Amino acid sequence: MSPAFPRLGGGNPQLRPDGRLGHLLSIEGLPERILLEILNTAESFLQIGERAVKKTPTLRGKTVVNLFFESSTRTRTTFELAAKRLSADVLNINVATSSHNKGESLLDTIDNLMAMHVDGFVMRHNEAGAAHLVARHVDQDAWVINAGDGRHAHPTQGLLDVFTILRHKGPVDQLKVAIVGDILHSRVARSQIHALSILGCPDIRVVAPKTLLPAAVEHLGVRVFHDLDEGLEGVDVVTMLRLQQERMEANLLPSSNEYFRQYGLTDKRLERADPDAIVLHPGPMNRGVEIDSAVADGPRAVILPQVTHGLAIRMAVLTSLAGARDRDLHRDHG
Ligand code: CP
Repeated sequence: MSPAFPRLGGGNPQLRPDGRLGHLLSIEGLPERILLEILNTAESFLQIGERAVKKTPTLRGKTVVNLFFESSTRTRTTFELAAKRLSADVLNINVATSSHNKGESLLDTIDNLMAMHVDGFVMRHNEAGAAHLVARHVDQDAWVINAGDGRHAHPTQGLLDVFTILRHKGPVDQLKVAIVGDILHSRVARSQIHALSILGCPDIRVVAPKTLLPAAVEHLGVRVFHDLDEGLEGVDVVTMLRLQQERMEANLLPSSNEYFRQYGLTDKRLERADPDAIVLHPGPMNRGVEIDSAVADGPRAVILPQVTHGLAIRMAVLTSLAGARDRDLHRDHG
């Protein structure tokens, strides 16, 4: 396993003894039935956004804490909206103005929030393993969702990506998928690769310069391409990734202009893909660096539908985690 994709020890802490989902920390190691359950539940939640009254009582009386130690637009807002549409109360902790800045440790912050009897945490952190640490620490009634930890995992992104692919292209077991760009620093790539593999995708490609690929990446079950035109040949799905400059420890590229020339997705490059190919991007996009505006705003892009789907996926994950706890409560006190 590459040091770029650290393996977190201690078994799979996200599954409960009865096999249900206890926390959502990474796609890796999840059984296919759990992915399918979340994807199917998300399908039913999609319609809620189209109603005049966009709420269900599913999480009434629950409190969800959004704890983001790293910047986010899509993930934080869709988790907040997902919890609110399920009628939960939501606490958004502004880390910049929290006591974390006065030296309080992560686990002390968690303990203080637990003392308020919150039900679950949605957490983003720049350190791989932070969500696992918190999941091992919280009371057994509480749950943790990893909203992105370093370059390790972003499970709800992987789920919303495959949900988008399923809705636009059908079952993944017939599809060719190319993931293009900064694979080395990408938790999105890793989560999408695991989700596609679990669902039986037979042809997953990563396309990147050698400097932006983790060592032994092929152990993830992908084919490696360094040439964009070759990597895009005949694919049904293209996922473009941002250059994650904030995680780069060295100068890994000559210039962003040169990168765009070699790896930027334009309409011309897209001609190599299947004529009905779709284009995904997790956001935030850097137009003119990894993707041309004509593609980003063009008919093949499903980038904004990804955001809509992310909301439904996050509602499904929150429902699954809270539902498992409620079934336990009814069993213990019913
Ligand atoms: N895709 C994604 O994680 O976007 P944000 O960083 O805006 O949440």
